[in-house]
This record gives sequence, structure tokens and C-alpha cells, in this order.
Amino acid sequence: MKTESDTNSRQYWDRTWARFLKHQGMIAPAAKLIQHMIPHVPRGGWILDLGCGEGRNTIYMSRIGFQGVGLDLSPKAIKVLANNLFEEEARGVCMVGDARALPFAVGAFDGILAHHLFDHLDAKGFSLAIGEAFRVLKPGGILLLTMGNFAALRADKKVVFRDDGSIVFTEGANKGMLVRHFEDVGLENLPGQGWQVQKDELAPRGSKILLLKRTGAARAA
Ligand SMILES: C[S@@+](CC[C@H](N)C(=O)[O-])C[C@H]1O[C@@H](n2cnc3c(N)ncnc32)[C@H](O)[C@@H]1O
Repeated sequence: MKTESDTNSRQYWDRTWARFLKHQGMIAPAAKLIQHMIPHVPRGGWILDLGCGEGRNTIYMSRIGFQGVGLDLSPKAIKVLANNLFEEEARGVCMVGDARALPFAVGAFDGILAHHLFDHLDAKGFSLAIGEAFRVLKPGGILLLTMGNFAALRADKKVVFRDDGSIVFTEGANKGMLVRHFEDVGLENLPGQGWQVQKDELAPRGSKILLLKRTGAARAA
């Protein structure tokens, strides 16, 4: 069931990406981050760019030899990505979809990039999406995820705090955006759920970078 928070969040992202429809060009891809997954994914392998936004990373991954699929909940984001694929004459597939209920078969992907997607899901959404990532990855497949450091928001007056650790902006340009601080989501439980941690780092601005391998084990909830 779609909640009010879901609707506000989707409207926030649609507003954000609609602005990109008026501009030419793309933001630079997260090339340094993507390096982390390259040795783990076969050449020509399928990589899902989960919460792809305007698709800078989908296009980049397609350019360096992977089959990139960009999926985002925001139809506006996917419209921007479709335009970018056309303008850049790039290969790549894009579609509107929900990380919490992915429209793909079991084991469809060799890798998943989720660059600042999981930090925009509430606790239930996080749990559903991590389960879906597990389902659509091949055994041995790689999930590279980043999540933001939102500790500074604890003193912010423009946000409300929910019991599940979600923080929702109530005013200003970010109104409707939902975030969760990486320390509040239980990332430490992932190894017990069929994931093997390959890398666990902090980016210079304090975001979490996790490189996880999907083991062959059945996933514990
Ligand atoms: C911070 S942006 C990151 C964009 C992109 N990964 C990048 O690095 O440029 C977060 C994206 O997640 C998308 N998103 C939020 N909830 C989602 C969901 N349940 N399923 C798929 N995408 C979602 C938003 O629409 C937004 O485009």
C-alpha cells in the first residue's frame, strides 16, 4: 500500500529530476566508486543501476563494457535517462520500477550498483529492497551500495524523526525527501543474511561504501 510518505518522496524526486529535463549535459559519473565492483563482474555482465536517477552511472557502466540497466521510481528520472541515452548515443536499458518489488527474474544480474538509494528508503522499504537485490543477483553476484551520513540532521529543525530511524524533511527545497543515516539501518546484520562483506569503507565526506557478495546461502530474513 502506498503511504503518504511514499507519495511525498516520489513527488520530491519527480520535482528534482524534472529540473534536469530543462538542462543539457549530465553530472559526472561516480567512476572512482564503480572501480570497486569492476574486478568482481565479468566483462559484458549485466549490472542493475538501482535508483539510477538521470542515469550518469548506467551510461558510464555501459560505456566501459557492461550491460547497464537503469531503474528508478521516478518517471521523470527515467525520462531524463532516456533522453541522455539518445543524446549520448549510448547503449543501456532504462525503466520505471520500485527497488522494493523488482520486475526481474531470480539471478538476472551479475552486479547491482545502489549509489545513494538505500538511504532513501524507510525501514520496511530497506528490508524489502535488500531482499529483492539478493533475489535478482546470481550467487556470487556483487552489490555495491553507498549510504549517506546524516548525523548532522539530528539538530536540524526542518526535519521530523520517525521511530524506524527515517528522517523526513518538512520544509525548504528538500521537503518530502526521506533519508536514513547509515548507522541506523542495521548494516551490521547483513553478513547473517547471506551477504559477505568484501569492502567496508567511509568516503571522504563520511558516506558509507559497502561492497557485498551474494553467497549461495538461502537468505535469512
Ligand atoms: C540520491 S538519488 C541517486 C541517483 C543515482 N543513483 C546517482 O548516483 O546519480 C536517489 C534515487 O533513488 C530513487 N528512488 C527512491 N526510492 C526508490 C525506490 N523505491 N525504487 C527505485 N528508486 C527509488 C529516487 O527517485 C532517486 O532518483
